[in-house]
Amino acid sequence: METLTLRRPDDWHVHLRDGEMLALAANFTARQFARAIVMPNLVPPVTTVAAATHYRDRIRHAVRPDHGFTPLMTAYLTDDIDADEIERGFREGVFTACKLYPANATTNSAAGVTDVKKLSAVFERMQTIGMPLLIHGEVVSPEIDIFDREAVFLETTLGPMLKDFPALRVVLEHITTEDSVVFVSEAGPNVAATITAHHLRIDRNDMFAGGMRPHAYCLPVAKRRKHREALRKAATSGNHKFFLGTDSAPHHKSEKESACGCAGIFSAPVAIESYAQTFEEEGALAKLEGFASEFGPQFYRLPLNDGTVTLERTAHAVPDVIEDGHIAIVPFHAGESIHWRLVD
Ligand code: DOR
Ligand code: ZN
Repeated sequence: METLTLRRPDDWHVHLRDGEMLALAANFTARQFARAIVMPNLVPPVTTVAAATHYRDRIRHAVRPDHGFTPLMTAYLTDDIDADEIERGFREGVFTACKLYPANATTNSAAGVTDVKKLSAVFERMQTIGMPLLIHGEVVSPEIDIFDREAVFLETTLGPMLKDFPALRVVLEHITTEDSVVFVSEAGPNVAATITAHHLRIDRNDMFAGGMRPHAYCLPVAKRRKHREALRKAATSGNHKFFLGTDSAPHHKSEKESACGCAGIFSAPVAIESYAQTFEEEGALAKLEGFASEFGPQFYRLPLNDGTVTLERTAHAVPDVIEDGHIAIVPFHAGESIHWRLVD
């Protein structure tokens, strides 16, 4: 049996949700990843040290202790967030980073930032204390075509922000375009990006393959094939600026398969296997460990994990749906066969 053993990886961007959904989702992440950057877009959003501390407790409670999983919490930036609260959370080890959602860019982002200029004092403080800023990089103006929203964000928002705060440590999250690959590659060492498993595998055609495919819909939306190719090249390049962040985002099946389906792809059940399949297709399995287990902690200035995970080359079927009680979620790769399997 062919096997692949990696230093235990981390997920630098995940939605674990809350309540019953948290109970279902968390262990899929924890069985493969030692740590994860947990998104704060709950209802209401996680904007205070107290809220993050309580949420972290709920996550710890939901995860099987033998997984040895560490959730890393983020603060949801709003127009009137207090820089002192952010700094206190960072110094106390509760907040690892802040998350910038442009208001109304995506799921539960209504309380997000309406104009980054309002956050100058917060960015200034984050730059001073070295706290990472994680960015959902899309403009929201309805006149900008949805497929251009990321590229326009680089030009109109992130470029100017980095001129004002040149030492701010930024992770451009879940990049989907060649434009972002170039932007991040050319930026200073303080700018990095995460790449999801799904954006390495789907392009915009997959949303319309024989009909509308709500389970291929996420934000930022998948782009043209040439962008996917650029992401695959970046992820497998060995460039330390690009590392793993699944953006696994579970939604109820009924809320995806709806007249107004939610954005999000639940990749946690198959994440490391999916990345392995992609890296293998690119002839770059030897590059997976850096991308999954080394470049993220290096950027976040955290130690590399001890321990390993092992994948074996065995075809296995991904279920059509994952059910628990009255929750039903369609996972990424549903109904397909994946040829790497994580050994528990
Ligand atoms: O597809 C997405 N789903 N993109 C996001 O930015 C948010 C996420 C979610 O929370 O469902
Ligand atoms: Zn996300």
